[in-house]
Amino acid sequence: MDLKKGLERGPFNDKQGKKLSEALSGLDFGQLNWLSGYFSGIAQNPTSIATDGTANESSLGAATAVEPGKLNILFGSHTGNSEALAENLANLAKERGIEVEVSDMASFKTRDLNKIKKLAVVVSTHGLGEPPVQAQDLYKYLHGKRAPDLSHVQFSVLGLGDSSYVDFCQTGKDFDAILDKLGGTRMAPRQDCDVDYEDDAETWQNTLLDAISKKSSETSNLQIGPNEIAPATETKYSRKNLFEATILEKINLNGTGSSKETMHLELDLQGSGITYEPGDALGVYGANSPKLVKAVLEATNLSGEKMVVGHNGEKTLLEALTYDYELTPLSKISLSKYAEITDSPRLKKILADSTAVLEYLPGRDIIDLLSGEPHIFSPDELISVLRKNTPRMYSIASSQEAVGEEVHLLVSIVRYNAFGRDKEGHCSSTLADRLEVDDKVKIFVDKNTRFKLPKNPDAPIIMVGPGTGIAPFRAFMQHREVAEKKGPSWLFFGNRNFTTDFLYQTEWQQYLKEGVLTKADVAFSRDQIEKNYVQHRMLENGKELYDWLENGAHFYVCGDAQKMAKDVDLALKQIIQQQGGVTFEKAEDYVKKLQLANRYQADIY
Ligand SMILES: Cc1cc2nc3c(=O)[nH]c(=O)nc-3n(C[C@H](O)[C@H](O)[C@H](O)COP(=O)(O)O)c2cc1C
Repeated sequence: MDLKKGLERGPFNDKQGKKLSEALSGLDFGQLNWLSGYFSGIAQNPTSIATDGTANESSLGAATAVEPGKLNILFGSHTGNSEALAENLANLAKERGIEVEVSDMASFKTRDLNKIKKLAVVVSTHGLGEPPVQAQDLYKYLHGKRAPDLSHVQFSVLGLGDSSYVDFCQTGKDFDAILDKLGGTRMAPRQDCDVDYEDDAETWQNTLLDAISKKSSETSNLQIGPNEIAPATETKYSRKNLFEATILEKINLNGTGSSKETMHLELDLQGSGITYEPGDALGVYGANSPKLVKAVLEATNLSGEKMVVGHNGEKTLLEALTYDYELTPLSKISLSKYAEITDSPRLKKILADSTAVLEYLPGRDIIDLLSGEPHIFSPDELISVLRKNTPRMYSIASSQEAVGEEVHLLVSIVRYNAFGRDKEGHCSSTLADRLEVDDKVKIFVDKNTRFKLPKNPDAPIIMVGPGTGIAPFRAFMQHREVAEKKGPSWLFFGNRNFTTDFLYQTEWQQYLKEGVLTKADVAFSRDQIEKNYVQHRMLENGKELYDWLENGAHFYVCGDAQKMAKDVDLALKQIIQQQGGVTFEKAEDYVKKLQLANRYQADIY
């Protein structure tokens, strides 16, 4: 084996790799073998070596052993997943006797970086491959001119993301690369996690803590049991142990003639012990339509009866394609795997150009790929290309204060025609077309600690939720209706047409009548020639909206991330600029402060 190349692949920076290569060059097989046993001993009990002086770690740049001392965990989270995982890591570390400190990147003082020796970063990706707001300042600092030398830091990164995005876990990748560039040493390799992050996060936590822990992984596992990610609630059901909820009610809320199809669903949680809070989301698993599965089998000329071994064990190809993998939409990862297997120059050219990828993927599914670039697959090869079935998150539209052991959802049914075929959303079409009242659906609660009613029940709230963005605000209102104390509340709702698309119209009217809702402004974009959206209603009410903010209101936005949330964000800044008489930059600072104080919360998708 080439020693230099082997070291390059290891967790060492250039300087350490060079030193190690020098120290080890010229040693024979027997000497190297002896050293491997010796280092394994050091790794399992580093302190005894340090105190009896028989080994001088500095002679090897202390690269192999993780140094003793506090583990700092920094999280950058928008919807709370990274935060929950950071807290979970801290608890597991404490159980192993490791001193820990958890900090939100948003409030972390960069000057404290020089005190940190061991750093675990848990960070998600938002926007299109961007850091969450809470991580932006630290991200910029580390990538900027004044970035510090971090050669005293041993680190590891857990990235959270969603592989349906082209820039999968980009922020985690960026943090990992910059910490390395600034001289840090990896304690454990970076782990990128998809929407179903439990298993991967658990593996990373174990690897990291085993590297840090004074005990061997075997002993520590025996002592503390499997490192389960703490379930969202007291219930035995979690992301890993799904509850099968019965559908109690299913109603299309759009009136006849509407261009939209928005399903209100009520699911039974009885006997599950599952609890949730307004602002949380529900993870729901869909299954592929028999029509799409048949089309894939025909396009690949494979029999559904063939047995395959996938991530859920051995089963027929038909079953695996129906329940365990996604056939729509097409992800960049599937495209890359397909290009590799087919060795297609055309697909490889697309993959080499990020703009071409962004143009290629939208609207396409696996059938488009198979028909564009046919290939003879084995059944196992076919499933190796596919993304495993991943849950869809829906903002919960009910409060348990009002509905008890039920959970309500508002689901927009996705249907479109692209590349000559009618297509549909994987999960929304499952709920609309393939499941009926009394059928069961696999679910779990996805806590969102970053989208919550103010702790002070008297605080005013402003809710902007066009389309299905209205869902969590129904939960907010149900919650406040039951609560004794309630501050003023203001709703901005929008949709296409008043007569067919005013979701939960009678409920809002009732809340207004009862005074649970103080004020409502609506915008129906297609009822007049000129387009009319929620941001226009906000701007028309600029003075009052600014007064509410100045009086401590919390601002919430839920719904479309591509356009609506950006337009609402801009309108908010324009209002602050105009009403506060400040520059646009100062208005941006105002908004940033609101975000960091958790007074501007977004649940966007
Ligand atoms: C509006 C929006 C944009 C997102 N953009 C990306 C992205 O570009 N790449 C990615 O890997 N994940 C993306 N995600 C997925 C999140 O990273 C993922 O849901 C993660 O679990 C959130 O963790 P957090 O709760 O700690 O913020 C996006 C999610 C949302 C809601």
